[in-house]
Amino acid sequence: MLSLPPKRSSAEKVLTAMQRARDDDANWQAGKTFSLVYYAGDDVSDLLKRAYALFFSENGLNPMAFPSLKKFEAEVIAMTASLLGGDDETVGNLTSGGTESILMAVKTARDWARVHKPRVAAPEMILPLTAHPAFDKAAHYFGVTPIHTPLTSDLRADVSAARAAITPNTILLVGSAPTYPHGVVDPIAELAHIARENEILFHVDACVGGFMLPFVRKLGYPVPDFDFRVPGVTSISVDLHKYAYAAKGASVILHKNRALRRHQYFVYADWLGGIYASPTMCGTRPGGAIAAAWAILNYLGEEGYLAINNTVMRTTTKVRAGINAIPGLKILGDPAMSILAIGSDVLNVYEVGDEMTVRGWQIDRQQFPPSLHLTVTHVHAQSADAFLRDLERAVAKARRLTFHKFANALQVGAVRAASKILPPKLMSDLTARASALFGSGVPARSAAMYGMMASLPNRGDVNELVLDVLDGLTRVEERQKDEG
Ligand SMILES: Cc1ncc(COP(=O)(O)O)c(C=O)c1O
Repeated sequence: MLSLPPKRSSAEKVLTAMQRARDDDANWQAGKTFSLVYYAGDDVSDLLKRAYALFFSENGLNPMAFPSLKKFEAEVIAMTASLLGGDDETVGNLTSGGTESILMAVKTARDWARVHKPRVAAPEMILPLTAHPAFDKAAHYFGVTPIHTPLTSDLRADVSAARAAITPNTILLVGSAPTYPHGVVDPIAELAHIARENEILFHVDACVGGFMLPFVRKLGYPVPDFDFRVPGVTSISVDLHKYAYAAKGASVILHKNRALRRHQYFVYADWLGGIYASPTMCGTRPGGAIAAAWAILNYLGEEGYLAINNTVMRTTTKVRAGINAIPGLKILGDPAMSILAIGSDVLNVYEVGDEMTVRGWQIDRQQFPPSLHLTVTHVHAQSADAFLRDLERAVAKARRLTFHKFANALQVGAVRAASKILPPKLMSDLTARASALFGSGVPARSAAMYGMMASLPNRGDVNELVLDVLDGLTRVEERQKDEG
């Protein structure tokens, strides 16, 4: 068991160890990472760091103690609401991220239903299959049953399926703008209509798109209505630490009006430590994240976001064209902005992904159907050409691997058939030669892992395997023990 170092260390020594620890981290500055980090250049990062450091010690738990944070938070919410078709009634709160905003939307719906639909004993919410797992997490935490509904062939929520899934227990319907897996915008107006007809709440998850789609539309790209301008939308989640390029730990949950938001709050007036009230999940909230969010919105302004998004959309257009020009690859659905999924009818795209990993690119794998996920951001303007060149090479390699494995499978089949008629000595000779020919050189990579996972008949087994991985993540590695 690792214990605290017995003695103090020097700041230099600690920082050197930390720098060394980063050696194998994803390379996002060079635009080789297509998820997790949203980087808009050093000027933006420098401002974020300075703003964060200025409010490094402050705590958003008690805004009365820090009127500065109260002002920042109120102004960030108002600017976000105005971007998303809000009006004087629209209210909201800052949260730590998309997941917390979504948790708050579901908690609001559950508590709203307790008051306005008291006959609902077992609340349900309707989630198109592409809805972010944060909704399933919220369902798990708050005792709401998730009802997953299918997609249409364009990978958007199937409106008739959503309608058919409504029961007297339904309290909330969800749509995404856009969906994380494929970047397509769900039919928000149609879903909102169903919600209104059935007098239930409707949440738009614009975590990834809320700070981009309004600018994409202004730049002249087609964007369907998705925000408070659509009658029936009662709440929207929008992350600032994604396409608003804020520091990590900043998202906004917006509600159509104050009465709805009341159901989000938590108050405990009888605590010995004083009256405790908290609008969101967290108690202590880092002042730095709130300050940095305010800083970036004011620094970039409409002009800055339009310029950044112009670059992002031009880069996306180039990347889409490049992918479509590579035989065997295709873009799934018709993405509305800069989130893309690369699929294939003929290749194992996980092999393509593995070949890209070998070349230093960090790209997420998706399933049902298999695809590779790209979040194109400002930084990819500089790496798009290199990305497309490597993608072409990766596809060529994956084609060879696919052929190689096919040949291998044929060979194994032939060996099995032969074993029925040939003497054992000759058989073992042949087997050794076959594996020397075909059995080596195909590394066990994510392609193999996804293949294995997909072949498990019981999804519960997959869950158990993943839980084991989570367990392992907090194990101290030998290497770390040796440091210092
Ligand atoms: C559409 C959507 N919703 C919710 C989330 C969850 O956000 P977070 O990871 O900040 O909790 C994401 C994250 O990518 C997302 O894309």
